Amino acid sequence: MQPAIKIAASILGANPVRLEEEIKKIELAGIDLIHIDVMDGHFVPNITMGPFIVEGIRRITNVPLDIHLMIEHPERYVNAFAAAARAGDLITFHRETTKEPKEIIALIKKTGLKAGVSLNPDTPTGTVEDLLDALDMVLVMSVNPGFAGQRFIPKVLPKIARLRSIAPDEMDIEVDGGITTETVSQAAQQGANVIVAASAIFKTDDPCGAIKTLRQTAEQAVKMRCTQKANA
Ligand code: DX5
Ligand code: ZN
Repeated sequence: MQPAIKIAASILGANPVRLEEEIKKIELAGIDLIHIDVMDGHFVPNITMGPFIVEGIRRITNVPLDIHLMIEHPERYVNAFAAAARAGDLITFHRETTKEPKEIIALIKKTGLKAGVSLNPDTPTGTVEDLLDALDMVLVMSVNPGFAGQRFIPKVLPKIARLRSIAPDEMDIEVDGGITTETVSQAAQQGANVIVAASAIFKTDDPCGAIKTLRQTAEQAVKMRCTQKANA
């Protein structure tokens, strides 16, 4: 059994000067997580938001925050983000940014937050396999990080399958980048249960309907996966 499907709305796709309105909209649609893309202009070629924005968002919603750090030296910023967040929220750092992932996981856990590690499309799962017991989530990037609105890279699908086959039952596997109604099905079928979407939610006329469709499509894919496994 894998954990239930959760939909994470990436506010990188939202209107930045109407963030409160955008967040209320997805909250009403029953969003599970608010995904916050933190970019530093070094690890990725774009600059976005920091703890100041996280703190502001934390004040206007009770939806758990899913903080995706695409920054160098994540260990220097864990405490600042944790201070802006609250227990139940999650901080994910990139495996490519450190030689000491265990220390960073411990640092995050010490703040009372959940810990995740993310893999770029070219980073193999072998780099995190010895960390799984200490983690709440692994994030498999399905685009090269930096921007919303890119195309899904299908070669990451076997990485999702591999991680699901060896992960503890309760561990979340998140997929991020290029999610559409087609790609969500492929990712969920391989075992991803946390689905990030920016464009597919915010660049539509009906974010509520988009969230519902993503959830239903992912849940159907999981059912198919279970039936296939049972018949194998
Ligand atoms: C990309 C970010 C993603 C991005 C997803 O570096 O990590 O979370 O916002 O955007 P879409 O869903 O448009 O691919
Ligand atoms: Zn992200």
